[in-house]
Amino acid sequence: MTGPAAPLVLGIETSCDETSAAVLSGDHRILGHVVLSQDVHLVYGGVVPELAARAHLQKVDAVVDEALSQAGVGLRDIDLFGVTAGPGLIGALLVGVCWTKAAAYGLGRPWVRVHHMEAHLFAPSLEDAQAEPPFVALLVSGGHTLLLHVPAWGEYELLGQTRDDAAGEAYDKVAKLLGLPYPGGPHIERTAASGDPTRHRLPRPMLTRKQAPDDDEYYDFSFSGLKTAVVELVRTLTADGTLEQERAHVAAAFQAATVDVLATKTLRAVEQTGCASVLLGGGVSANRGLRAEISVRLKGGGRVFYSSPRLALDNGAMVARAARFRFDRGELASSDGSASATLPFPGLRDPLRSGSGSIPMFSR
Ligand code: KG4
Ligand code: ZN
Repeated sequence: MTGPAAPLVLGIETSCDETSAAVLSGDHRILGHVVLSQDVHLVYGGVVPELAARAHLQKVDAVVDEALSQAGVGLRDIDLFGVTAGPGLIGALLVGVCWTKAAAYGLGRPWVRVHHMEAHLFAPSLEDAQAEPPFVALLVSGGHTLLLHVPAWGEYELLGQTRDDAAGEAYDKVAKLLGLPYPGGPHIERTAASGDPTRHRLPRPMLTRKQAPDDDEYYDFSFSGLKTAVVELVRTLTADGTLEQERAHVAAAFQAATVDVLATKTLRAVEQTGCASVLLGGGVSANRGLRAEISVRLKGGGRVFYSSPRLALDNGAMVARAARFRFDRGELASSDGSASATLPFPGLRDPLRSGSGSIPMFSR
């Protein structure tokens, strides 16, 4: 182990379209935290990888400086550097990794490569000390949909994952179809609030009540069929000239179908693993409908852990926390450490499938 036992950590996140840095104290308090969302992508209706990388490069120094200044410390006071090394957009990841590597080597400090989805797992623990394993975790972001059993930090049993689009990706694509801006999740949620979720019936892909636990569709997800169903519905409504008046109802039907699938499979995992608690992570976990549905269905005293929206979406604080976890286990990056768009989830076991230690990661 290198460095002090309770190090001051700087976490950097540049895997997609947020440039973020945070300073975490030795006892995991957020001392400084800046999240800069790139608006350069707005006109394109989605993230343009090349523009994301360039925007990170332009802003990373200023974002780190502001986080340090909020914390009242200088770069030389940092004992440990943590950075998202993957999965994500490779050009974007490389900006954070190269910046971190240069700072760590320049100052003679250790650095840690963080897996973006493991960082999302740690986010709720920054606000609630009880957000600790064992729990069932539903990680839902723009690039991933993972259902995990987490008996302890660092031990991750993969129960289910998406076969095609991620949940957040589905929100973003459906928002685009409905003429709502990127990122679509919050806009769908807002629009759905005034809609009737039962007016249009949308499918619940890969969800039938007859599935058994040893069926590999029991926990897996699929969102591309749901998106196609929305495409068809929007086409019909456009031809009828009624899309404008039906928009909120379509958003509500989509949100109801998505939440139903996510909540049903999460509750199946609770039942099978015997875990009392559920942890929700990733950008889609900011969705109030999803949080409420899982809380209602959990009944029986179990807790649902999730972060405030600032920590549910991509941020440097969760990266700093995950870096500290790996640092405490002595897992430091070496001089040839780099970024990987498909970084395997550390400690992930896939008992239903090949028994291999890693799964292919879907990245935008
Ligand atoms: O974790 P995140 O910030 O970035 C990735 O790692 O991808 O997640 C971003 C995703 C986007 O797809 C966005 O539309 C979705 O999270 N999202 C939401 C909400 N807020 C963000 N989806 C549903 N409801 C929300 N309130
Ligand atoms: Zn994320």
